[in-house]
Amino acid sequence: PTPTERPVATRDGFTSSFGVLAATLGSAVGLGNIWKFPYLTGTNGGAGFLVVYLLATLLVGLPVMIAEIMLGRKAKADPVTAMRELAPKGQPWWLVSAAGVLAAFLIMAFYSEVAAWVFAYVFKAIDGAILSSDPKVTTAAFKALVGDPVQSLLWQWLVLLLIGGILLMGVAKGIEAVTKKLMPLLFVLLLVICVRSLMLPGASQGLAFLFAPDFSKINASVLLVAMGLAFFKLSIGMGTMMTYGSYFRDDQNIPATTLRVMGADLFVSMLAGIAIFPAVFAFGFEPAAGPSLVFITIPAVFASMPFGHLFMIVFFVLTSIAAIGAMLSILEVPVAVVSGRFGLSRKLATLLNLVVLAAVGATCALSSSLLANVKVLGRTFFDLFDFLSSSLLMPVGGIVLCIFVGWVWGYDRLRDTLSNGGVLHNEGVLRVLFFVIRFISPVLILVVMLNGLGVF
Ligand code: PFF
Repeated sequence: PTPTERPVATRDGFTSSFGVLAATLGSAVGLGNIWKFPYLTGTNGGAGFLVVYLLATLLVGLPVMIAEIMLGRKAKADPVTAMRELAPKGQPWWLVSAAGVLAAFLIMAFYSEVAAWVFAYVFKAIDGAILSSDPKVTTAAFKALVGDPVQSLLWQWLVLLLIGGILLMGVAKGIEAVTKKLMPLLFVLLLVICVRSLMLPGASQGLAFLFAPDFSKINASVLLVAMGLAFFKLSIGMGTMMTYGSYFRDDQNIPATTLRVMGADLFVSMLAGIAIFPAVFAFGFEPAAGPSLVFITIPAVFASMPFGHLFMIVFFVLTSIAAIGAMLSILEVPVAVVSGRFGLSRKLATLLNLVVLAAVGATCALSSSLLANVKVLGRTFFDLFDFLSSSLLMPVGGIVLCIFVGWVWGYDRLRDTLSNGGVLHNEGVLRVLFFVIRFISPVLILVVMLNGLGVF
């Protein structure tokens, strides 16, 4: 059916401007800010990496995000249906959305496992099991968790059930209602941790690490990692923002909303950096600990400070909150596609996807135990899925979307959709945006990607 034949008016969607912001920001903010951003900044030299990441966010992230939300809102359908209807007849542009569904599964598989550790850590923080200023003790605690196949799987299933349960309630009553409550709470908790961290003696060293650039560590693969982070952070290149865009209201200002989400997301990453690095330096820990930074170093840091027990609980609660909003949006992609394409009820589509995910996700849950020695391309499933999504699928998705909007869809439709069919006050901005989408972003993504993969 075409958009006019489909019952668009009765379609579930976001009901208020604040709801749109909460849900979209809820998607962007997540483990990417609190787990990935700090450990990547830590291992790639600090502020120099931050500068490259900022550039990628502005030159690639922002335009792709606007384009994606715009296409979704225009079609008001799941991403596969959307691309089928927006593209000229017979052209297979919907394949980009199908690749997005694949990316959603890969991301959700490892993401839900990291979230599983975070959930487990909330309870470990409460009972004090991980409270030790000795990194050897916190390392042992982390290894005991990830190395235990039963615990890893059960916590992951719990996470999946929670996310599935919220999605079952729908877009407005599930996603929107939950993120509206959780996002403000997240900000408050994060600010609490930041203030605590900044009050520590020696905090300035951590700030210098985060904000004084040193570009000596930047090379081709670091550039790709930074760009991959920009995609991952803004949930773009894989249909998530297209799906959420389809729930936007017609009077929603898309560029303004996108700018706000991008700004707030960067702000949260900065806050996470400010919460973590001053504390890491104040107690003489290593900023380049890698993916385990949050699980091994941070507990030791908290154990070293007065009232650390309480702040550690706060930290892992806020990290769980961040993870929930993001996971809702990842899983919503296949749920929307399966129910949209195959006419299944939302309930059935959710349950079906949960079952498949439990199976795919298990490969990541077991990546540090039973499957630790199974490597593809030299990586465990956990690392492989992370690499494939951020370094390949999302950037390729971004390129395809830019080419589609810049060369097939064209300026007039972009102008019409982004102005909500109304009067334009500053057309110049849209022309610049179109130019960037048409020429700059796709070329940049392609060059950084091929370069980072060692093709040149
Ligand atoms: N943006 C989320 C984060 O930074 O944690 C992760 C994410 C959410 C990636 C949704 C992709 C996605 F579709």
